[in-house]
Parts: sequence; structure tokens; C-alpha cells
Amino acid sequence: MRILVIGSGGREHALIWKLGEHKNQLFCAPGNGGIAELAQCKKTGAENIPALLKLAEQLKVDLVVVGPEVPLVLGIVDEFQKNRIPIFGPRKEAARLEGEKAFAKRLMKEYNIPTAEFEIFSDEKKAKKYVETKAGRVVIKASGLAAGKGAMVCPTKDEAFAAIEKALVQKEFGKAGETIVIEQFLEGEEASIIAITDGNTIVPLIPSQDHKPLLNDDEGPNTGGMGAYAPAPLITKELAKEIQTKIFNRLLVALQKQSIEYCGVIYAGIIITDSGPYVLEFNCRFGDPETQPVLPLLKSDSAEVMLSTIAGKLAQINLKWSTDYALCVVAASAGYPGKYEKGKEITGNLRNREDVLIFHAGTEKREGKLYTAGGRVLGVTGIGSTLSQAKQKAYLALEQIKFEGLYYRNDIGDKGIRRIEKN
Ligand code: GLY
Repeated sequence: MRILVIGSGGREHALIWKLGEHKNQLFCAPGNGGIAELAQCKKTGAENIPALLKLAEQLKVDLVVVGPEVPLVLGIVDEFQKNRIPIFGPRKEAARLEGEKAFAKRLMKEYNIPTAEFEIFSDEKKAKKYVETKAGRVVIKASGLAAGKGAMVCPTKDEAFAAIEKALVQKEFGKAGETIVIEQFLEGEEASIIAITDGNTIVPLIPSQDHKPLLNDDEGPNTGGMGAYAPAPLITKELAKEIQTKIFNRLLVALQKQSIEYCGVIYAGIIITDSGPYVLEFNCRFGDPETQPVLPLLKSDSAEVMLSTIAGKLAQINLKWSTDYALCVVAASAGYPGKYEKGKEITGNLRNREDVLIFHAGTEKREGKLYTAGGRVLGVTGIGSTLSQAKQKAYLALEQIKFEGLYYRNDIGDKGIRRIEKN
């Protein structure tokens, strides 16, 4: 089978690695230095839909898999479907679940999907008046896509006012911040549940846990994710059942009642509070870095799963999982998520082993050498029969890799390890 993956990060490298089973012929646009070892990389940008369409036609691919949210929100699936090219991902209207937070929140409220209490505003004065009435912390989110920077936790009213002004007055998020969602801050531990749906059946993959803050102990600024592991013991069998019934099944009903056909990935960012699971966000794509520890544990043929989903036959698929754990630590450039330098040579042992997979997130290959080319550079994933073993393997492998300014968190997986030890 000929498969084109769109995107250039660690998520896409993990997808390419998994889709490479069964001698599939792989292409990636635009890809990165690591992906280039497994797939033919094409220079076409992930947001250039007409050029991607031309590329897919030229390559005569049997399947297209979209990594990032932007092309999905822009309607890449609609365009490819019009041209009868099998593509895995939701159409533009369905991708609003991620592209328009106000839409997602209204849908959750209408269909009784547990989520934090909220209001939606485009007017600064009304937004500030609402904040005045709220006790405790609030979270202010730009409704549109803001490259992961649009959610602001505001512990005080002054910080909330500043966040409102940032979005609605200074317009720091552009059009994406012209509408904001103000919601109650929820206390609890978070998990990521990536599910696959063909619109009638929704099947969760194993639960994972991301580590968004830059520093150990979840301190410091938010990033795209500094590491993740799976399966996350936080999600017990009982919680998984509750998430299925109260969140995923209700979401499917909501989408059907709104006549929105959804096919592809639904990622639910969930917080487990004292009164059960609540949805923090829905995304319309695989999580990054969560995909890096989740896919190595999937035993089923990923291309077959995606093609069955596109054909509306997900109910016939029974996903098979390894009983191991996988843990991914992100190696980042100094300065990330702020300004960082690129072009630092990466040296050391970057070879994949049976129990260590090194996914490239921001790398570039030039004249046989590998250089940093992004904020998140590598996702080093260890696989073991226990979570502690997976952690040990990932960190041992990471110690053998060098580049100037390399930074990583030391505590990826510790919440899960403590939970397992306690039980
Ligand atoms: N790791 C968070 C996300 O993919 O949105």
C-alpha cells in the first residue's frame, strides 16, 4: 500500500513508524530528518492543500493520514474526498470540535457531556463583568486555533482581566481570539484519551498522560507537551466505562443529531475531578507527544484500522494491545517554548532498538549529519513490562544523545509510577 502522512513532528514520525508495517510504501509531507529514514519526504507544506492534493494524485496513494489540526480545520478532508482519495481525518465541519472551542463547549452543554461551567464572549466589558461574579480561578481560552498558546489559567481577577484584554483588545491571537470562552478552573489530574470513530462506533485507544508544563513537578510555562506515557493507571476500568458512556457515546449522539459526519480521531483531554471525568478539550487529531508512547503498544495493523474507519466498518475491528508500558521523554531546545536556536548538531546513539524508539520532532538532515530544527527536537520512547522499566529505558537512551542546549524533564511518568506503587 502507498501511504502519505501529512506533518513534520514526533506524532508523524510515530505514525510513519507504525504504518511502515507490512512493507507499506511511505511518503511524508514535509517530514523531518528522522522520518526521512523511513519515508520519502516531499517538500510540500502541511497547510498547502492544493499542492498536497496534486502530490497525492502524482504519488497515486491508497491512503492519506493527516497529523496536525490546521489542515483538518482548513478542510483538507473535504477536498481529498471530492477527488476520491482515501483520507483519514474529520471534514472541516467536524474539525470545528477543535477549531472552535465555543462550538465544542455549546455542544457539550446541550448534550450533557461533563465539562467546566462556562460563558462565551466577544465583548471586553461583558467578559470582565462576568469574571467579577466568579469566585476562584478561571481559565480563559481563545475560541480559535492559537498554536497551543490560547489557554490562560488566571488565578486572580487582575490576571483574568489581562487575559481578556490580550485576546479581545490587543488581539494577540488575531481572529482566533475574537471570541473567548471563560470557564471555571477544575482541580484534578489530567489524562488524554485518543479515540477513533467512523461516526457510528467510537473506540478509545489506551489512555495516556501528557506533561504540558516545561519544568519538573508541573511547574513553569505550558508547552506542546514534554513527555507522555501509556497506559495511564489513572484511568481505571470503571473510569474508562464512565468516559465511554458520559463523554464519547454522548458526543456521537450530539454529532449525529447535528448531522455532522465525523470520521477519524477524536482526542479528549480529560480531567478527573472528585465528581468524575470532565472534558477540558476535544481535538480532531492524534495527540503529540501522546501518539509516541501509544502507537508502539498497538498490535493491530494501523492502516487496516484507518481504512476500515473510512469505510464505516470500525465495528468489525477489535484493537489488540501489548501488555507493556511505553514512556516518551521530549528532548527540547534551550529556550523552548520561548525563543530557541536551531541548527545544533545532534550526536550520540540515535538508533532504534527493540525497547527504545527515537522519534524525531524537530530535526533536519544535512550532508549526512543531523541538526536541531525545532523547539521539541526528539521524543525518546522506552518500552518495558512495567512503567518504571519503560522510564528507565527512555532516560538511559536519552543520556546517550547530545546537542547544545538539550533540555528535558526528569519526572515523566512519576505520577503514574506513584499511583501503581500505591495500589
Ligand atoms: N499533547 C497535547 C495535544 O496534542 O494537544
